[in-house]
This record gives sequence, C-alpha cells and structure tokens, in this order.
Amino acid sequence: MKKQIFLLLILSFFLFSCNNNSTKNEEATTMKYSITEKPFGIFENEAVTQYTLTNPNGMQVSIINYGGTVTNILTPDKDKVMGDVVLGFDSLAGYLQKGNPYFGCLVGRYGNRINKGKFVLDNIAYQLPLNDHGNTLHGGVKGFDKVVWQATKLSGDSSLQLTYTSKDGEQGFPGNLKVKVVYTLTADNALQIAYTATTDKATPVNLTNHCYFNLSGGKEPTILSHVVTIHADKYTAVDSLLIPTGKLPDVKGTPMDFTTGKSVEKDIASVKGGYDHNWVLNKAGKGLELVANIYDAATGRNLEVLTAEPGLQFYTGNFLDSTLKGKNNWVYGKHAALCLETQHFPDGPNQPSFPNTILKPGETYQHTTVYRFSVK
Ligand code: BGC
Repeated sequence: MKKQIFLLLILSFFLFSCNNNSTKNEEATTMKYSITEKPFGIFENEAVTQYTLTNPNGMQVSIINYGGTVTNILTPDKDKVMGDVVLGFDSLAGYLQKGNPYFGCLVGRYGNRINKGKFVLDNIAYQLPLNDHGNTLHGGVKGFDKVVWQATKLSGDSSLQLTYTSKDGEQGFPGNLKVKVVYTLTADNALQIAYTATTDKATPVNLTNHCYFNLSGGKEPTILSHVVTIHADKYTAVDSLLIPTGKLPDVKGTPMDFTTGKSVEKDIASVKGGYDHNWVLNKAGKGLELVANIYDAATGRNLEVLTAEPGLQFYTGNFLDSTLKGKNNWVYGKHAALCLETQHFPDGPNQPSFPNTILKPGETYQHTTVYRFSVK
C-alpha cells in the first residue's frame, strides 16, 4: 500500500510539472509575438495608427493604416545588427507630402498604368482620372494608398488585417469593391501579404504593395550593388510613357536578363531611364512560387520574393532625386531603393492577350506575396 501511495505521489508530481511546463512554454511562444500600436496623426478626421509587429526573432514590421503603408522593416544583417530595409518617413506629414512616390503603400484599384485612363467593359466606356503624363497610374489621383483603412489585429499577434471598401464610381471605376489585405510576420522572417477582394459589378483589379527596399539598412545610398535574380524569360515591352506595346520580348542577351543574377549596376546604363518594367514570371502554375531574389553582399542580407501573381514590376527608384528627406535623416537620391511589385501586367484591361484583370460579381480576387529575409 505504502509503495502505491509513493508511486501515486511521484505520478502527480510528474503530471503537475508537465502541465506547468507546457503553460510556461505556451507563454514563452505567445510572448514572443506582439503587436504594439501608437498614434501616427489624423487624416481627413480619421485617426492614423502605427502598428508594429514583432516576431520571435526580434524582426519588426511597422504598418500605418493610412494607405496600408509599411513604414519600417527591421531585419538583422550577417552580424545580427538590425537595420531598416525600407524607405519611408518618421511622420504622417512625410507620407502626405506631394511627391511621396508611393513609399511602402498598398496600391489599387489598379496597380501601374492604364493607357489614357480608358477601358471598355460590358460595352461601357470608362474614363479614369489622369495622373501620369496623360495616363492613369496606381489607381488614379486618390488611390488606395491615400485612404484610411480599417485595421484589426488578428489573434496570435502576428497578423494585421486591413479592410477598405472602394465605392462604385470611386476614381472612375465601376462597382463597390470590398478589399481585405492581411499582413503577417512569420517565424521565418517573412512578411506575407494576402490580398482578397469582391465586387458587385465587373471591374479591373490589380493590387500590390510598393515597398522601396534597400537591404543595406541605410549603409549604402543606392541599390546599384544589390544582386538581383528574376525568374522570367520575358518582359512586357513599353513605349516612352511606359505603356505596354503588347509585345513580350525575350530577356536573353539583353540588359533585361536577370535569370542568373547580376548586380543592378551591370547593365542599367543601357536601359533608358533605368529599370521600370514588368517581367513575365516563369511560373509553373497559379500558386505561390519563388520568383525573385535580391542580395546585398556588404550586409549579407538576402530577400526572396514569392508570389502567386504572373508579373513583377522591378523599379530601380529612377525618379528619386534627393528632394525627399526620409526617416533617420536619410536623403533619397536616384536608385536609393528598388521596388518589387508583384502584379498582373500594366494596362491589362486594354490588352486582350495579357492575363485577365477583370473581377466579376460572385468571384473572389485573391493572391499572396511573400518577402522573406535571411542572411548569407
Ligand atoms: C512605376 C514607376 C513610378 C513609381 C511611382 C512604379 O510602380 O512603375 O514608373 O514612377 O511606381 O513611384
């Protein structure tokens, strides 16, 4: 009997400590993800808040609900020193200033250009506001980058959900479009962006994010030495105003060839104005696939881009001209950063041979893009 009581005591002690440990472990895991928030100003009578997501490795991504803008991404370099790898401003005033070139924001209803802002849908001709040399760029004069989104922290503290309803006729587009974007900071140092949208009338939709990356984290004034790989054998040829001609030339043997990886500076001088083109991604299907890689040897930071989208706008900050002073007193000169905008092709609504960009009632627009950081 004594022996049985003794065994029972040992068993209860064992069970108690297991239970206690598992509570502690759970705490340790959940403690490591956090979302903090702080006021970031007021826009059109609406409060703008900055949310900072932190993962178990200490990586941080800050997002404001004005434009769904990513304001900071702090990742470690090869010596574990944290650095901010995106361009941006310290205050809302910076983002509101004229000439903010879409730093970090969500872009919509239609990312990139629509020729002369015109398209015909179901026999109706639509005219959008023109904001780029007689064309419509990034959704018009007041696109999704210039509105306040509703933000909700999702349970688990690794995701921030942003929603916005774009009204029928807003910026000339048909249909009430309900948009949801979920930013998730994962345990493997990736920022995942999941986009969904539904409409009540057929409408063009092409959503993307416009982060300007410089992997040096403020150490190098340009991205010219960054090594870029883009898994694409073709790109969309454009005219002098960057409107697609409809042709899809091969990159092979041209400065547009990034299939094996090369520095930005290697061939940029042969591309008039610098890189600002849509690459036709070599994709096996419609799922998430690795499409590009950026590497900065000086800091060892590496960025992989995965997407479900068919195109990638690779833009080398050609229009940055040192007039903008950003956070940390950084001055943003030409080629200070590069953008990797995963998307459907520019001017899709006017190019029948390009992948479809029209969303119809009853359908759900859906895609995910992942920016995964590491060091090597
Ligand atoms: C476009 C550039 C444009 C930039 C806006 C990019 O997506 O391709 O032509 O200047 O956005 O800052």
